[in-house]
Amino acid sequence: MYLGIDLGTSGIKAVLVDDADKVCASHTEPLDISRPHPGWSEQNPEDWWQATLRTLDALAASHPAEMAAVRGIGLSGQMHGAVLLDGTGAPLRPAILWNDTRSEAECRELEAALPSLGQISGNPAMPGFTAPKLMWVRKHEPAIFTATAKVLLPKAYLRYRLTGEMIEEMSDASGTLWLDVGARAWSDAALAATSLTRAHMPHLVEGSAPAGHLTDALTRRWGMATAPVLAGGAGDNAAGAVGLGAIRPGSAFVSLGTSGVLWATTDRFRPNPEAAVHAFCHALPGLWHQMGVTLSAAASLAWWSEVAQEKEASLLQALPEVPAAPSPVTFLPYLSGERTPHNDGRIRGAFIGLSQDTSRAALTQAVLEGVAFSFRDCLDALRSAGTVVTEADVIGGGSRSGTWIAILASVLGITLHRLADGEHGGAFGAARLGRLAVTGEDPQALCQPPRRLAAVAPVPELQRAYETRLTRYRALYKALSGVE
Ligand code: XUL
Repeated sequence: MYLGIDLGTSGIKAVLVDDADKVCASHTEPLDISRPHPGWSEQNPEDWWQATLRTLDALAASHPAEMAAVRGIGLSGQMHGAVLLDGTGAPLRPAILWNDTRSEAECRELEAALPSLGQISGNPAMPGFTAPKLMWVRKHEPAIFTATAKVLLPKAYLRYRLTGEMIEEMSDASGTLWLDVGARAWSDAALAATSLTRAHMPHLVEGSAPAGHLTDALTRRWGMATAPVLAGGAGDNAAGAVGLGAIRPGSAFVSLGTSGVLWATTDRFRPNPEAAVHAFCHALPGLWHQMGVTLSAAASLAWWSEVAQEKEASLLQALPEVPAAPSPVTFLPYLSGERTPHNDGRIRGAFIGLSQDTSRAALTQAVLEGVAFSFRDCLDALRSAGTVVTEADVIGGGSRSGTWIAILASVLGITLHRLADGEHGGAFGAARLGRLAVTGEDPQALCQPPRRLAAVAPVPELQRAYETRLTRYRALYKALSGVE
């Protein structure tokens, strides 16, 4: 039996997975975000820990035999967050999260201080990433910066509480800007540019390698006979990829979650920082990946549903399964700025092309299309980094909408696959990594893809119509950037 724990932004989720690779139980505990100032996003590491204890206590109560049989544990987590610890391992301030945009100025300072950053880390400096957050703390909270003995990512903090050890793995470390992603090692140059050294960083392992044992006290608490091994684990997207079996060069998926991700597995480090492509290590040795990230994917529909005061399902019901033509309105989904390809924290969203005839359904369709265009920007950014995606699985809350998948297929011009219901989140992939750390078996044999339900191909006329709209969408970004 194996346990996967995902430290998400909105909750802690744990799944128990049996020896046949089937999920037999899961439990989720919610988490809140604190936004003390515009653009800030923070969580208290102690809240993660208490929610983790509640989650695993609940599983131990509902499935005592399965919990007692756990041999391996994998961790998945929200990426990029900065957890600052003092010399005793106590947090010095709330964690600054991946969707916090306060460190825009520090990004420019970091790139000026280290012009080779993009080639070393595979990424341009973006406020979501960890290093600029530390530069912000150095500038605005100097006493806390001086007292910082270790900087951990969210799931590494959880591991510290579970095992007493400070260890991180390659896929999540890639999102700090301190990793030499090609060499899979901390970069002294990148650390020095933020006044830090290797001593501030946890020890690095691969995601499928052992990374500590559960403490004796917790082993007794959950009724296990011997202390389970923890695997290095993975950042949430890489863990999701392990769960989807996206571990062969060329495998790709689209995640229509709160934020949107277009993922492609690669056999080499292929950076393209100019187009804000994320070039990261995968959670398995010898593999890398590229991601295009759009910050408001399902979040755009959630926003529109809130504004329109109508449930998402009912908004979607007003649309045909496959639209006959693009909406006359164009939506720019930059509600929280954008990562790929613009790396622009200041740009904001828009509806363009409104008229007296504009209906609520036209606006809903425009929202789905705007998000699809932002994925198309990601696809083209990956293409310019040498990766051609020809088909992809679709996961995430937005994938429940057939209309959205049909629009996406025609905008991207590739075939998309709808998957059978099941566990497609980071927790399941993390449990697989937990198993690999125990058994050392071949990941290619274990990490089978889920069952595909249907292939959704582009509709040629719609694809052509969307190409014209894409030109308008791209011109609108140019027209709006810089407008305050
Ligand atoms: C990836 C990213 C998000 C978070 C969400 O770069 O910022 O996907 O990992 O949890």
